[in-house]
Amino acid sequence: MERIVEIEKFDAEESSEITLRPDIWSEYIGQEQIKKNLGVFIEASKKREEALDHVLFFGPPGLGKTTLALIIANEMNANIKVTAAPMIEKSGDLAAILTNLEEGDILFIDEIHRLSPAVEEILYSSMEDFRIDIIIGSGPAAQTVKIDLPRFTLIGATTRAGMLSNPLRDRFGMNFRMQFYTPDELAKIISQASLKLDKEIIHEACIEIAKRSRGTPRIALRLLRRVRDFADVADESDILYSRTQYALNELGINSHGFDEMDIRLLNLLISAKGKAMGLSTIAAALSEDEGTVEDVLEPYLIANGYLERTAKGRKATRSTYEILDIPIEQAEEERLF
Ligand SMILES: Nc1ncnc2c1ncn2[C@@H]1O[C@H](COP(=O)(O)OP(=O)(O)O)[C@@H](O)[C@H]1O
Ligand SMILES: [Mg+2]
Repeated sequence: MERIVEIEKFDAEESSEITLRPDIWSEYIGQEQIKKNLGVFIEASKKREEALDHVLFFGPPGLGKTTLALIIANEMNANIKVTAAPMIEKSGDLAAILTNLEEGDILFIDEIHRLSPAVEEILYSSMEDFRIDIIIGSGPAAQTVKIDLPRFTLIGATTRAGMLSNPLRDRFGMNFRMQFYTPDELAKIISQASLKLDKEIIHEACIEIAKRSRGTPRIALRLLRRVRDFADVADESDILYSRTQYALNELGINSHGFDEMDIRLLNLLISAKGKAMGLSTIAAALSEDEGTVEDVLEPYLIANGYLERTAKGRKATRSTYEILDIPIEQAEEERLF
């Protein structure tokens, strides 16, 4: 089954999302701290007529990392080349990309934690010295050729900052952690997108979708499109509150923004009766890989206080019991936070 709140993918929907993707600062809602800092750095580097320092964004999927990279390019009036780590298999692939850059260009590498160590090494030397050493030929005839690169800006995005090697991480001049969005911010994003879709949506309906979007713009926009379908089928020119509620219930989205997978995870933790459960156990029980549990499922639950990471594993919290309306037993009581 397709998860409605499921996240990172390069599918057909992404291409329709592109039309909803803001390309200027003023349309990029929220992440105020990041925008403020970036704004200063962009202005400074423009004044000095230098390429912007390398930037790293990290945080769960769908929070606007790629969008921000594109907006930076726009602000800098720079060309941007977009790629993802799984597409750069060999050092030669990266060398080809780097040598094709021009002065001031931006290279965006998504999922940058997935680079192979050999590729990563070339990358961080190029970030620092704007030069790469390539080995041509093999055996005794092998030769090292030094190639100078233009001053470029690398923008990296990752869901797992912990998986970057230290040398690579250290070479980013700026490091930004993306935050989940508040319902108000999401409501703004939804109403802005509805204008682009040419479909009016009343404010209460925006808020309703926002509350159920796991703090994530990508999910909010996906839900907006689905709700719009319901309204269109019902021949309603505007998206109304009642239709929105109906559609969201039909789609099985609960009012805390949890989806089925979240609920399964929380129930699983509760079944441990206040004891910590290991990541591998959780992943096996949910038939998900550990990375997905850690990067996609857990951050939202942790940010909202429904899951606690401890040295021994993961635990439910009091709020988890409250939200699922499950009484806390005496034995569990003392183990909970
Ligand atoms: N701050 C924002 N303001 C408006 N729209 C946003 C914002 N952040 C993300 N979006 C929308 O959400 C979608 C997902 O964002 P994206 O940048 O692809 O996320 P990420 O790269 O972090 O996975 C985009 O299509 C974009 O339109
Ligand atoms: Mg992205």
